[in-house]
Amino acid sequence: MSDPDLTSSSRSADPELSEGEGPPAEPPMIRTIAMPADTNPAGDIFGGWLMSLMDMAAGNVATRYARGRCVTVAVDSIAFLAPVVVGDEVSLYAKLLSTGRSSMRIAVEAWRRPRVAEDYRKVTRAVFVFVAIDENRRARPLPTSTLELE
Ligand SMILES: CC(C)(COP(=O)(O)OP(=O)(O)OC[C@H]1O[C@@H](n2cnc3c(N)ncnc32)[C@H](O)[C@@H]1OP(=O)(O)O)[C@@H](O)C(=O)NCCC(=O)NCCS
Repeated sequence: MSDPDLTSSSRSADPELSEGEGPPAEPPMIRTIAMPADTNPAGDIFGGWLMSLMDMAAGNVATRYARGRCVTVAVDSIAFLAPVVVGDEVSLYAKLLSTGRSSMRIAVEAWRRPRVAEDYRKVTRAVFVFVAIDENRRARPLPTSTLELE
């Protein structure tokens, strides 16, 4: 895999998108509110809901970079660091780490903010691997000229 100039993060197992205590400076890919419908039978926010949002955030980066259809092929590592509760603002940040012939490694972080406070906290992180595919669903090479992705 090559590491193009547009990426600044390392390929460590747990890349950090944020510096210091707060969330990343870049705008989030997705921002939403955790609602009662997103809870599991115990009344806690369902981990699968967060994973779905993370997949969407990473998919947005992948599709934009690959300029076309992409699929999730792997999630290298995922860690749930803190709970999300109903009413939290949830922000998803995603950044391209590295690329191969057809694959892209994308770091994703989810951050929560309580509805009435400025207390940001990282709740989940993961590295997603996406593959660019063609109309026959086969892996296709990534474009050679690259986009600057912030
Ligand atoms: C993505 C897919 C087309 C790749 O097919 P494949 O036969 O493995 O293709 P290749 O062997 O050419 O691999 C393509 C790339 O994927 C990478 N890859 C494949 N499996 C991987 C895995 N488990 N982890 C990391 N990378 C993987 C390969 O390293 C290769 O990267 P490169 O082109 O950058 O060198 C196929 O695995 C697929 O369709 N998977 C299902 C995807 C899907 O439906 N996702 C949604 C699930 S709900």
